[in-house]
Amino acid sequence: MNLKKNRISPMKTSMDQITALCKRRGFIYPGSEIYGGFANTYTYGPYGSLLKKNVKDLWWNMFVENRDDMVGIDGDIFLHPKTWEASGHVGGFNDQLIDCKNCKARLRADHLVEEALGEDCEGKPDEEVTKIIQENKIKCPKCGKQDFTDVRKFNQMFKTPLSKTGDDGHVYLRPETAQAIFLEFKNVIDSCRVRIPFGIAQIGKAFRNEITPGNFIFRQLEFEQMEIEYFITPPAGFTEKREAWMGKPHLDDWPDEAQDYMNQIFSAWEKAMFDWCDLIGLDRKKCHVVEHSAEKLSHYSKRTFDIEFDFPFGQKELYGCAYRTDFDLNQHEKFSGKKLKYRDPQTNEEYIPHVIEPTFGLGRSLLAILTSAYAEETLEDGSQRTVLRLKPKIAPVKIALLPLMKKDGLPELAREIQKQLKIFGYTEYDESGAIGKRYRRQDEIGTPVCITIDYESKDDNAVTIRDRDTMTQERIKISELIDYLKERYFS
Ligand code: GAP
Repeated sequence: MNLKKNRISPMKTSMDQITALCKRRGFIYPGSEIYGGFANTYTYGPYGSLLKKNVKDLWWNMFVENRDDMVGIDGDIFLHPKTWEASGHVGGFNDQLIDCKNCKARLRADHLVEEALGEDCEGKPDEEVTKIIQENKIKCPKCGKQDFTDVRKFNQMFKTPLSKTGDDGHVYLRPETAQAIFLEFKNVIDSCRVRIPFGIAQIGKAFRNEITPGNFIFRQLEFEQMEIEYFITPPAGFTEKREAWMGKPHLDDWPDEAQDYMNQIFSAWEKAMFDWCDLIGLDRKKCHVVEHSAEKLSHYSKRTFDIEFDFPFGQKELYGCAYRTDFDLNQHEKFSGKKLKYRDPQTNEEYIPHVIEPTFGLGRSLLAILTSAYAEETLEDGSQRTVLRLKPKIAPVKIALLPLMKKDGLPELAREIQKQLKIFGYTEYDESGAIGKRYRRQDEIGTPVCITIDYESKDDNAVTIRDRDTMTQERIKISELIDYLKERYFS
């Protein structure tokens, strides 16, 4: 069957379309459904977990294996509780909480203001945000009343008792993967042949007690991060003037030379982050670089830019890149009493390295990938199809083997070919139903190539390859299949 040209629906992809596809096709299920569900938890199903694994592997490959200046670690979720005092998370990792006294709704104050006034007030003092809400007579989105408490701080870390000792010992679930990297900095420089500049990467879970989780997998309490702490020499003049420079709110307030040095490093990482966006097939028109104002910066940062993405529910943070200065290593040196300085092998100079941190949320990556890849199309014959135009490297199923009939040796031949094609990753065999329906199913899960085995295959030793995006079909000799697929899809 040769379905010719198609027309991409101009309609904007909605969250309903994405969540419906995810559930229907085994990408992402709502968590604990048989118990009536458990809000804001999700399970990655068979195709979702493959997609997630492929994205993680690709990230690791691009940022660790393909570079000479990177190593990786895999740290624990539980770190020594002092870690979080040193890092400033116990004192400063807060959201602004506000309660509606009437309906008891708990809301994030900056989100309340943003939704009501379209104004970004993240980072403004509690009193100021309380005043904005009062003066603008902002109403509770749940009950419509205007009866709020004052804005107050809410620490986002989950704390859990460490009951082994029976005392009041406790641990935190890590709210970012970054800290394990700082804790192991000394071990890495002592045990590996790394020289500054170099980076340490980690992929893992992080946990945040978000006041308003939501928008599917966009904001969760439990999520995965792919983070890099990249260690560099401090800008010239920093060591002598540390206190004065650290007292300034933003890198823009530092001398020009220091700004130029850091901005060059930022540019290189911005490029690398956009190369990554291209690699996973994100729609570039939907990606925007947004600088944080001084008041919005995290307590550890002197400059941060986000890459925001046009999700179906609006332009929101996808990734971030922060200049953490020597803040973290310096704090851990103070709190642990251990020396965390680096000795330059050439100059013998000792210093605490500075850090630039590109950080990537995995769930948000998947949501941006799905938003970019999803299309509903009307074909020339008037029929409809839903297709996920996923890059072959991350597609959960690389190739589908579809024997035209369930008999006469076609299944056996298809299975034999499937065995050879396993070198490309996960493949699927499907012999049930009309071939058109089988194609549609593979289109919906983003399989780039379908291979149809028909009666002629046994005579001409060839199969039909059907391309997901163009829907064109080509006859290829079985003996040439691997080279053809390598070149066209999986190089
Ligand atoms: N170590 C720096 C750090 O954690 P962040 O901006 O707070 O910075 C990094 O988080 C990335 O983690 C974000 O850009 C986003 O992709 C992802 N992320 C943050 N909070 C999240 C949440 N509650 N649910 C899902 N992803 C989240």
